[in-house]
Amino acid sequence: MAIRKIAVNTGGGDAPGLNAVLRAVTLAALRLGWEVVGIRDGYLGLLEMAPEEGLIPLTRDRVRGISNQGGTIIGTTNRGNPFEYPVKRGGAIVAKDRSDELVEAFRRQGFDALVAVGGDGSLEIAHRLCRKGIPVVGVPKTIDNDLAATFLTFGFDTAVTTATDALDKLHSTAESHSRVMVVEMMGRSTGWIALHAGVAGSADVILIPEIPFDLKAVCEAIRDRDRMGRRYSIVVVAEGAAPAGCAVMTKGIKEIGREVRLGGIAEWLAGEISARTGKETRYIVLGHLQRGGGPTSFDRLMALRFGTAAVRTLSEGLTDVMVALRPPNVIAVPLSEAVAGRRAVPLDGDTIATARSLGICLGSPAE
Ligand code: F6P
Repeated sequence: MAIRKIAVNTGGGDAPGLNAVLRAVTLAALRLGWEVVGIRDGYLGLLEMAPEEGLIPLTRDRVRGISNQGGTIIGTTNRGNPFEYPVKRGGAIVAKDRSDELVEAFRRQGFDALVAVGGDGSLEIAHRLCRKGIPVVGVPKTIDNDLAATFLTFGFDTAVTTATDALDKLHSTAESHSRVMVVEMMGRSTGWIALHAGVAGSADVILIPEIPFDLKAVCEAIRDRDRMGRRYSIVVVAEGAAPAGCAVMTKGIKEIGREVRLGGIAEWLAGEISARTGKETRYIVLGHLQRGGGPTSFDRLMALRFGTAAVRTLSEGLTDVMVALRPPNVIAVPLSEAVAGRRAVPLDGDTIATARSLGICLGSPAE
């Protein structure tokens, strides 16, 4: 089918590089003579808004000078899953499948295909929409770097850079006060950000979900440093990390159509370390700082490569695929592979080996 008009949307949590993708998709599509329209806030622009509010024509002018900007000029949400849309019924909020309505609105606007920029949740939705007849190409976005079928997602490098900067700053204050600083990082059920920033930022302990930790081992590592005259320690903990045999800490209750929020582990851990070692301990949650600001040049380039590759992929007639980094190239992989499960940190990988060789405690009892 000849393509004349495509839609693009950004779904889930924002990530540095989204605007660079939008610029890349727009410029590459305009060169092929296609029209490009951004759907505001995931799918809400089609489901909830009038076209003049919910649909943003992406012209050369509209995408000028945005590659270096954080956030997304078309907005995003992690509350707009059309297959599990929260609606009020009686006094309660229940899930409603609004996907047929969405497909109809998509067709009414004359869109021939969709470029869906998102993480596993958004790409799962895109994959399901594809089965309902919408031609889709996905672009892998998430600071968590946990998407299967791609070597990297854009946004990750910027998050690691921000988190590493924070560790650099925390070193001097921790050392001045001979304190333990516990630093909580994002990443959901994987420890990519914590591991990479922790190694780059010279953390003394790094705790990730892939290695259930032993509190005794953590405290022993801190005491060891004291004995060596290093009277401060930096402990990095991923939000999804937990002591062996314990559940992950969450915040609030799970809402319909979105994942439960994680958090609280740093506060708990700081209390335990202080009680067990007698050392003054503080904690900090880096939170959304890790998602903010403009992309690093690495993420910017990745985003531009992914965005243009998505358009080339559509022009080749491929659908139900995601563009993915398979170094040195960007290729197309089936969306089904991308959403098959989260990509965890490989425990036999070189970065884990690097941490161990540097003497960083990873919290396992045997260390
Ligand atoms: O998936 C990206 C991410 O930043 C996770 O690391 C984090 O757990 C979650 O989103 C936070 O989501 P929200 O912005 O809804 O609090």
